[in-house]
This record gives sequence, C-alpha cells and structure tokens, in this order.
Amino acid sequence: MTYETPKTYETIEVTPLTPLLGGEISGIDLTKPLSNRQVDDLHRAFADRSVIFFRDQHLDFEHHKTLARYFGGIHIAPSTAPWQAPGHPEITIIHADKDSKYVAGEDWHSDMSCDPEPPLGSILYLHTVPEPGGDTVFSSMYAAYDALSERMKAHLEGLTAVHDAVVGFGGITPEGMKLPRSSHPVIRTHPVTGKKAIYVNRGFTTHIEGIPRAESNALLSYLYDHVQRPEFQCRFHWRPHSIAFWDNRSLQHSAIWDYFPETRSGYRVQISGDRPF
Ligand code: SIN
Repeated sequence: MTYETPKTYETIEVTPLTPLLGGEISGIDLTKPLSNRQVDDLHRAFADRSVIFFRDQHLDFEHHKTLARYFGGIHIAPSTAPWQAPGHPEITIIHADKDSKYVAGEDWHSDMSCDPEPPLGSILYLHTVPEPGGDTVFSSMYAAYDALSERMKAHLEGLTAVHDAVVGFGGITPEGMKLPRSSHPVIRTHPVTGKKAIYVNRGFTTHIEGIPRAESNALLSYLYDHVQRPEFQCRFHWRPHSIAFWDNRSLQHSAIWDYFPETRSGYRVQISGDRPF
C-alpha cells in the first residue's frame, strides 16, 4: 500500500506538535458515535503523526473501548492482569500517588513488544493529573532509523532481537505468572505507511540474536542512546480529561515521574496488532 501524507482533513483540525510527530486533534467529540469520514480522518492523522492527542474528552469505559474498536480489536495482555479494571479486562488502570513504588512506562519502550503480536497502538485517558509534571515523551523510530548511516542500516537489516516481559514486569507481577517472550526484527516495516523503524527498546529487549552477547550489548546500548535524541521527540503536557493515542509500531515513549507524591490517574486500552516484519 502506498501511503501519502494527508494535506487536509475533512472533519477535524490537526495541530502538529513538531515537524515530525504528534498532532493535537480538535473539532471532534469522542463520546458521540463517529461518522465514517471522522474515522477515516483519525486513521490518516494517526498514520501521519504517530501520536495524536485530544483535550476535554470525558470518556467512560464504553467510550474508551469504542474509540479503540474504530482501529481494531482490543489487545488484552495477561501480564497486565494485576492492573485490569474490575469487570473490564480491556481496561488497564494507570495510577500513581503518594504510595507508589514505581509507575508504568518510565523506561523508554514500545508497549508489550514482548508479545508475539504486540498491540499496534495504545489509548491513554487521564482524568487526574499533577500540575505541573507527569508529561509523556514520545520518540519517532522512523526519524531514528532515517538518521542512521547507510552502513549501520545495512548492518541491522535482517537481525532479530528477543523481547522479554521479565525485563518490564519481572518482580511486579504475581509469582509464577508466565511472562511472554518473543523474537522480532530489529528494523521493522510499518504495515500502513511502509516506512522503516527501529524496533528494540530498553523496556523489553534482552539481546540481538546470532551475534556475541558483548556485541549485542554494545549495539543495543548505542541504539538506546540514539533513539532518545531530542530532535526525534515530542512531549505532551497532560490536562485533566486529555487522551494520548500512540502508535507502538513507529514510536517509543516514556512516562516522566517527576510529580511524587502527587496523583496521576486514568485508564489505558490497547489495540491488537500484527506480528512485526
Ligand atoms: C504507558 O507506558 O503505557 C504509560 C504512559 C504514561 O503513563 O504516560
């Protein structure tokens, strides 16, 4: 499929956060059923900006799930079971306060890359946020890939890496819970845009396969530094009832915990994705 950058949208306004990624969407009420044109515009904005944001949307669980289903089925990761909303396994509670010992997603990562078919996207709705603090930072893995030298791109092409939930969830899930582990290409191709993106992350990747461990460690360490370059990033400042909807195939993100002991609280739904290629 050939992807073209949208020039205009029929039903929404999209304000870019940076030239490369991030778009704040206005002119839409996500608590109402959406028309086909609205859904089509959201799909195009999502593909073009990799992460889209909404303000002043008072979502309940059903609105949240409905929004996700415009993009696919709902991904339920058994390893996130301890944080599921009671009676709603599709909804993960994202909450931190004065009693928290850790927060979800502090390390740079792509959600659940340890799964054989990781979620294509994640929709986070926060109703309670600290002021100031608690921003989420996103980094474009397209931009990170494009900035590699041609020699490095050629070196990484065809390599695969192991992603293991033990890295992200070890020690915080119930003892004995079976945690997923998968092998994925180090460089993946986005199924919608056709663009290439780096797909290894600190939050889940353990090693690159088929090369000595020391070489893998050095290469991953270089890539982890590289993907965090500020020019690949946008930073979202939350207000109550905001939404961030990000593409795990083309981004990594990191939740900044700079607001302890304040409270930051909401819900996340993930959308089923395909096996990376
Ligand atoms: C996550 O990684 O899903 C959480 C992101 C956030 O809380 O900003």
